[in-house]
Formats: sequence, C-alpha cells, structure tokens
Amino acid sequence: MRVAVFSSKSYDRQYFDSINQSFGHELVFFDGQLNQDTVKLTEGFDAVCVFVNDHLDAEVIKALKQHGVSLIALRCAGFNNVDLDVAAQEGIKVVRVPAYSPEAVAEHAVALILALNRKTHKAYNRVRENNFSLENLTGFNLYKKTVGIVGTGGIGRAFARIMLGFGANVIAFDPYPNEEYLQMGGSYVSFDEFLAQSDVISLHCPLVAENHHLIDVEAFKKMKKGAMLINTSRGALINTKDAIEALKKRQLGYLGIDVYEQEEHLFFQDLSGQIIEDDDIARLMTFPNVLITAHQGFFTHEALEEIAHTTLESIEDFEQGNALKHEVRPV
Ligand code: NAI
Repeated sequence: MRVAVFSSKSYDRQYFDSINQSFGHELVFFDGQLNQDTVKLTEGFDAVCVFVNDHLDAEVIKALKQHGVSLIALRCAGFNNVDLDVAAQEGIKVVRVPAYSPEAVAEHAVALILALNRKTHKAYNRVRENNFSLENLTGFNLYKKTVGIVGTGGIGRAFARIMLGFGANVIAFDPYPNEEYLQMGGSYVSFDEFLAQSDVISLHCPLVAENHHLIDVEAFKKMKKGAMLINTSRGALINTKDAIEALKKRQLGYLGIDVYEQEEHLFFQDLSGQIIEDDDIARLMTFPNVLITAHQGFFTHEALEEIAHTTLESIEDFEQGNALKHEVRPV
C-alpha cells in the first residue's frame, strides 16, 4: 500500500524502512504533522501513518476520505487525537499499536521518580563542575512508601511490578479492576483515598473525555502535602495551571512529566534557537522540583521495532482484507 507517514523523524525512517523490507509497502515520509494545513499532501495515498500530535479532527478525516485514504494507522497506543466517530462515518478504519513495550514507558516513569527524588540530574552537573557538596540533594526511600497508580493496564502493571520490587506499598484507582494486578500484591481504593494516601502518584490511564483534567485544583487539595506526581500518559490528565499553583503553594512536592497539555507545539522539535511562547511550560521549567522530558517514554530500541512491525502488519492485514487485530472503534 502507498502510505504517507507524518511527523516522521530519522528514527522512524530507520526502523520503518528496515522492517518494511519484509512487507514491501511504499512508504513516503513527511517531517510535518498531519493537520488541516497539510492534509492536501495525502492525495493519492491509501493510508496515513500518524503519531501522538498529528491532529485528525473531522475536517482532516473528511479530506482524507476525499483523497482516497481508507486507513489511519496510529503508530502509538493513545488515540485521543483522532475523531473516531467521524472516521467511522466516513468508512475509514483506524488501527493502533496497543502494547508495544509497556516496560519502556513504565521504566521511564521510574527514571523520572528516581531522578526527581535523588536529584541525579543536579548531581551530574555539580560533579562535572568539581562541586562535590551534598547540600540540597536529600532524597527519600521508596521502600515502604505508598505509590499510587491511576490505570492498571499494561503499563500500570509493569510499573506496579517495579514498585513492588522496591518494597513500596502499591495502591491503584481504575474503574476496571485487573486480576493480575491484584495477584501481584497491589490493591484498589476510591479516588479520594488514593489521593490522600499516595506519596507518589503515577498516571497510566488513557485520556478520555471523563478524565480530562483528572488532576486539578480539587485533586491537589486532597493529595498528601509534598507528594510526587508523575505523568507519562497524556498531558491533559493534569490541569497545568493548577499544577503550577500547587507547586507554588508547596502542596505538590515534585512533578515529573513526559507529556504536556500543549506539547504538540513543542515536543519532537529542536526549538533551542527560538523564543518559547508557552508561558506555562516556561514557568514549570523554573521550579527546582520539576523534571520534564519530551515524550520519550516509548523510546527504546525494543519498542521502536515493535511499533514498526505491528503498524506495518496492520497495514498488510488491511490490504489483504484480513481481520484487524488492533482496530480502534468509537465507544
Ligand atoms: P491499557 O489500555 O493497557 O490500560 C489503560 C488502563 O487505564 C486500563 O486498565 C483502564 O481500565 C484504565 N482506565 C481507563 N479509564 C480510566 C480512568 N478514567 N481512570 C483510571 N483508569 C482508567 O493502556 P496502556 O498500554 O497501559 O497505556 C496507558 C496510556 O499510556 C496510554 O493510553 C497512553 O496515553 C500512554 N502512553 C504513553 C507513552 C509515552 O511515550 N509516554 C507511550 C505509550 C502509551
């Protein structure tokens, strides 16, 4: 199939080109995002392959249909950036990569926790300047702390396993309890209890309309003073302005984010020579207890291989008229 690959970077080309040798699709890579301005580029393609910050609203999807595109292949797990209802109305199938490497994201959440807690990023810089002082580097033991997980799906469970290995008490909030998580020694509590008991909170649920700004001013008030909040899921699960206020009030003790509400204007680009217009991220970067990475939770060799393989296999299945294992349908 002729596939337009949007938001593509050197690593996308490397992994997709390599794995495509055994599929033989015609892949055309575009650097830019797919949105209303760029959708004209899709004329003559059978499918589009898109990522987290491509913007597939009703207008874009209708244009895709007119251009003859019949498949949207998301090379990520989340699908909040695609209007699934309109895609279904237009008869365009949507597939995703549901679980390429839950461990990749879970391990990155742990990396954020450890760096924020033990301040390794600051220690690294200090030691390179011959500053061997330990002032202000105090951390805390994770052993016996309560670690709270929102969403005990693939990533949440991989994260729970690691935290249980640290000897933490693991609690979770999820409207759909999972037996495997309970078997490994975790427990479920109500959302209010979850907020009140957790020393560290890590978000691992998808972004849907019901949990937009799940962590807002009210949630911050119910959290333990000085708690740590980690988000490797989707930016809009947290109300950023409320997080800034909670940090200023010292209610929130630490914030580690791999995702950000307005990330589509920033992430995956080198903006080092430019003025950042987004005042919220600029403010966040001034806090000593905030650590931001630019959506790299998925970014391991194993995950990139799996993403390329699953995406190209779904495209193949679509072309052959086979059942689509990873189809996403409107709820
Ligand atoms: P999954 O589908 O295996 O699990 C999601 C879990 O969240 C399920 O147990 C579900 O019951 C639960 N859930 C649904 N709605 C909820 C709500 N309102 N409150 C609490 N829990 C809720 O998904 P998986 O693979 O674990 O991924 C989770 C999220 O991680 C994805 O939706 C995506 O947004 C994010 N992600 C981030 C990546 C990164 O690079 N930072 C990479 C991959 C995924």
